[in-house]
Amino acid sequence: MAKNPLRVLVTGAAGQIGYAIVPMIARGVMLGPDQPVILHMLDIEPAAEALNGVKMELIDAAFPLLKGVVATTDVVEACKEVNVAVMVGGFPRKEGMERKDVMTKNVSIYKKQASALEQHAAPDCKVLVVANPANTNALILKEFAPSIPEKNITCLTRLDHNRALGQISERLNVHVSDVKNVIIWGNHSSTQYPDVNHAKVTTSSGEKPVRELVADDQWLNTEFITTVQQRGAAIIKARKLSSALSAASSACDHIRNWVLGTPKGTWVSMGVYSDGSYGIERGLIYSFPVTCEKGEWSIVQGLKIDEFSRAKMDATAKELIEEKALAYSCLG
Ligand code: NAD
Ligand code: LMR
Repeated sequence: MAKNPLRVLVTGAAGQIGYAIVPMIARGVMLGPDQPVILHMLDIEPAAEALNGVKMELIDAAFPLLKGVVATTDVVEACKEVNVAVMVGGFPRKEGMERKDVMTKNVSIYKKQASALEQHAAPDCKVLVVANPANTNALILKEFAPSIPEKNITCLTRLDHNRALGQISERLNVHVSDVKNVIIWGNHSSTQYPDVNHAKVTTSSGEKPVRELVADDQWLNTEFITTVQQRGAAIIKARKLSSALSAASSACDHIRNWVLGTPKGTWVSMGVYSDGSYGIERGLIYSFPVTCEKGEWSIVQGLKIDEFSRAKMDATAKELIEEKALAYSCLG
């Protein structure tokens, strides 16, 4: 029997990531090839005409799974009964800025949109915040939408996770889908900690630890980490625009795994509300390794953390605590 359509909200839909992600959603990349969708696209008044252009293109593309398109500048209409909310709306950083430099502009958007989601989205709506500073925007959204379960509010660090897989795959000259279980700990910022201590590669003679195959701890502990941490900035430098196709694709990966599950023996990284796991202060949106089943994520427990990792995990937590204070000061 055909499934009922799910309503997927994309805010900032007239922007770069919006333009890349809506066709992916309409093709089933996010929710599966048998899941019809109704797209809700929100942007602000100055982008209304461009947003309508995106709607025209969606109609012209004749996607079999796309059962309707709502294109609006009204946040209430946009949030109505949505099952998934991908929060991309906001201002991207430019060359030379850190992601928290866009804090002032973006956190107030997330405070406002929190109430609209709380009042009008489906009660079990899954929320993914993409706009930067992603972890702190998600935290503000969570704090100003107290009736949305905290498990339903997440932020995107899957792009960093995928970047880490990509770097290992390039280094070892193996296919990226044979690399698994890297971890991004902490903030989607330059303090994030990409950790390969538990990562594995599938080879013709079984699974092997990444550390054993790379056999260069110096590279793994320095250049690999900074390359992943600085990849967003490298893309901005090269494109003069921030990442869009990889961000859109990773956002689809995040929601797909959350809704449809992670493969057995594999985890992914998601920015989620900390429950105190691994000694990370409760009440931060922090990126952890998670597995997903039946629409619920769980933090992978029991991983051994060495001194090097501990220091890096704590440093990125400290930045999130500072960002939270800064966000509240921006909100007045
Ligand atoms: P963009 O400027 O191309 O698009 C952003 C869109 O948001 C614009 O169309 C703008 O009009 C709209 N917008 C602004 N305020 C809004 C509001 N109040 N409600 C709805 N829409 C609003 O930017 P982009 O390149 O698509 O990036 C969007 C955000 O995603 C940026 O903050 C960027 O830094 C962030 N980003 C995050 C990741 C990640 O991995 N977490 C990756 C890439 C980009
Ligand atoms: C990214 O990681 O590509 C995005 O967060 C954009 C940015 O500002 O780096």
